Amino acid sequence: MNGPKGPNTRLAHLGNRPHDFHGFVNPPVVRASTVLFPDAETLTARRQKYTYGTQGTPTTDALADAVNDLEGSAGTIFVPSGLAAVTVPLLAFLSAGDHLLIVDSVYGPTRRFANAMLARFGVEVDYYDAEIGAGIAAKLKPNTKVVFTESPGSNTFELQDIDAVAAVAHKAGAIVMMDNTWATPLYFRPLDHGVDISIHAATKYPAGHSDILFGMVSANAACWPRLKDTQTNLGTCVSSDEAYQVLRGLRTMGVRLDRHRDSALALAAWLETQPQVDRVLHPGLPSHPQHDLFRRDFAGSSGIFSFVLKGGGAAEAALFLNALTIFGLGFSWGGYESLAVPVNLDDRTLPQAYAGPVIRLQIGLEDVADLRADLEAGFRALG
Ligand SMILES: Cc1ncc(COP(=O)(O)O)c(C=O)c1O
Repeated sequence: MNGPKGPNTRLAHLGNRPHDFHGFVNPPVVRASTVLFPDAETLTARRQKYTYGTQGTPTTDALADAVNDLEGSAGTIFVPSGLAAVTVPLLAFLSAGDHLLIVDSVYGPTRRFANAMLARFGVEVDYYDAEIGAGIAAKLKPNTKVVFTESPGSNTFELQDIDAVAAVAHKAGAIVMMDNTWATPLYFRPLDHGVDISIHAATKYPAGHSDILFGMVSANAACWPRLKDTQTNLGTCVSSDEAYQVLRGLRTMGVRLDRHRDSALALAAWLETQPQVDRVLHPGLPSHPQHDLFRRDFAGSSGIFSFVLKGGGAAEAALFLNALTIFGLGFSWGGYESLAVPVNLDDRTLPQAYAGPVIRLQIGLEDVADLRADLEAGFRALG
């Protein structure tokens, strides 16, 4: 496309080359293990664009082209889940004897992988406060190879000063990875802020319909060869069927995300006025302690945030949740339907102080008035 275009124009066209496929608007879903070569010489030299199903197809390439454009990355790998999009790059860039720094508000299974598996492989793991910024310098060791970031953090939505963390980490020779699932590249572009490896659970907003598990990892030019080799060595690839569904989801991600953003902000602001609510944890609200950082770095906020009840515990959270009829009780987010879960912060390394139970909401595409009425029923159940 000529010249800079708006995000929805780009999402509508990125990755598509209709005239490579007889004019059909969308790329074909190429299901493949074997790819044939015309002769023995070409096979031996692997001298053609496609060589084997694990190495990509026209369908996965269409998605990769779109994602590289959105991320500003040199290359992107696809893996079978968002969690694999975390574990594969960590395996790519860490070896026995290395030190890994992870933000304490990280997605729980990332912590579990680091503590259970990386530690077994001889990687030293430490956690740091999301608000550390340039103070990360004090946590870096001569053997620190990776600083893992996630902003906002899972469940409690603290922001990180990614530019500051990346500048200090790079000076010490470490690379920076970021789980950017919350913002998507539409609202935050990690590589523009010094991140080397951008990670997405495409299960969430890109797929958008709660029916696909998919991960994407995008790298800058320096990190791309090692990331790609690791995927090849591990054999973690995806099917073209799933890649097609994610590409299909991307086409509408911009308009869906704007709706998630507006509805979530409206409900978050309303929750702040409810007598049973102590705090709302949403970086897009002016009351969020890091709202200035949010305004500096993010082009928008997505549809997931938490709120804290004034007092009570697991029993009160259950009373509230069991009264909901539109919000489903279930994990994941980014789909068209609203969800609620009680938040468990027991695995955090740093002390947590909240007045009551923390409840996380994923705001779907339903009508805000109906969602508000559902939450009101939850508050009524609390008495
Ligand atoms: C921030 C974040 N990263 C990664 C993942 C993992 O994605 P998946 O469910 O596709 O494994 C999740 C899932 O909830 C998540 O919230």
